[in-house]
Amino acid sequence: MTTLAPHDLAGFVRWMREASPYLRAHRGQTFVVYLGGDAIAGTSFPHIVQDLALLCGIGVKLVVVHGARPQVEARLAAAGIATRMAGDVRVTDGAALAEVKLAVASVRFGVEAQFAHATGQRQPGGDAVRILGGNFVVARPAGVIGGIDLQFTGELRRIDRDGLRAQLDHADLVLLSPLGHSPTGELFSLNGLELATAVAGELGAGKLVIYTQQPEIRDAGGRIRRQLTPLEMKEGSWSGPPAPVLAAAVRACKLGVRRVHLVANDADGALLLELFTRDGVGTLVSDTPFDQVRRATIDDVGGILDLIEPLETAGVLVKRSREKLEQEIDHFTVMVRDGLTVACGAVYPYLADGMAELACIAVRPDYRRDGFGTSLITALERRAGDLGVDTVFVLTTQATHWFQEHGYVREGTDRLPMSRQALYNWQRNSQVLVKRLGR
Ligand SMILES: CC(C)(COP(=O)(O)OP(=O)(O)OC[C@H]1O[C@@H](n2cnc3c(N)ncnc32)[C@H](O)[C@@H]1OP(=O)(O)O)[C@@H](O)C(=O)NCCC(=O)NCCS
Repeated sequence: MTTLAPHDLAGFVRWMREASPYLRAHRGQTFVVYLGGDAIAGTSFPHIVQDLALLCGIGVKLVVVHGARPQVEARLAAAGIATRMAGDVRVTDGAALAEVKLAVASVRFGVEAQFAHATGQRQPGGDAVRILGGNFVVARPAGVIGGIDLQFTGELRRIDRDGLRAQLDHADLVLLSPLGHSPTGELFSLNGLELATAVAGELGAGKLVIYTQQPEIRDAGGRIRRQLTPLEMKEGSWSGPPAPVLAAAVRACKLGVRRVHLVANDADGALLLELFTRDGVGTLVSDTPFDQVRRATIDDVGGILDLIEPLETAGVLVKRSREKLEQEIDHFTVMVRDGLTVACGAVYPYLADGMAELACIAVRPDYRRDGFGTSLITALERRAGDLGVDTVFVLTTQATHWFQEHGYVREGTDRLPMSRQALYNWQRNSQVLVKRLGR
């Protein structure tokens, strides 16, 4: 008996197929997740926990670090304790620390209970997600800043990496609270996001997931950027997520975390869409660019054929057999997103004429109008320039205006190299467009 409406079934099947490589890839990996106190207080929290429980279910080793800022603030206010700030950092005196401990404990128990509930909902009577915790975080006093003693506000000193790893072998999930002890037996209040970042680096986590109110990053022109490198983040001017979230993403990459995902606190299923679909819904920060533009190899033949065959059938591109493609693969450049060939094109040099032909230019239909085509011909023109030619040309039946918008000018067939003129297909009657490079 299915709970899906008939019109959802095809979508479900498609989704499962798209998700299956990710299910395999994520299994056995360590992910660190930061859940701020605002995410925990939000109405989507039960859904977030369901999604995290699903990750445990497929064999992801999960460390969840929780924050408790709004909960601490509420307790301090209720107890009538006014605290001083040193910049963005709260001074935690003895009375405030007592409230911090209560708030953190209450949040922690709430998170544990929600995980038990999530399992119970999915599988009544089933085993709850097993959560472990412990004294893995060693802290020291943050000291005196600007003449103000921060007292029990602490800084991370060390993480017991081996202890944490051992727990991950025995539990579904390790839950860390934003508190650390010192070797002298004192407890210090820590910044949960900084702790999550450090833990991700220490464990060499495959991913750090940061739940945040605002995961979308926009450039100076207001355009959303879904993926960017830490270098771009440092050099560009970005808006959207709070500055500490951006700083944590950059720092995590520097510490060796392969991918940092920013996902929305309040969107149902945001984590699943981010981790199990190619395009995601949040923001990915990674040292390895998500979209690769590179020379094709023989392994790309299948992906290129998938891309161009429908266009060949429609008569948009000239037919190429697999054998011909294999022979000419060195001429091809591909754009690959997370393993999928989303665009391709080829450069055929006519060195004696100082020219090169750009051919077989194609972008997958579902990736069009997103700048892939423009990036692709930029890469092809650069490749042609590297070969020493100063002029490129294309023959097209369908994309004349597109090439014109990229600086190409219509010319007669007599502008083609003689050897190419001999092969010109008059029946196809393609238009010739030429561009001088470096203009
Ligand atoms: C032509 C093609 C490569 C463009 O790829 P793309 O990734 O969509 O390109 P970009 O995102 O950089 O540019 C998109 C812009 O070009 C326009 N555009 C796309 N194809 C166009 C075409 N055939 N003619 C005119 N304009 C076109 C889009 O409308 C969009 O402009 P808009 O947002 O102002 O409406 C892609 O449409 C394609 O693969 N077409 C089929 C194959 C083909 O014709 N190849 C060329 C022959 S070698």
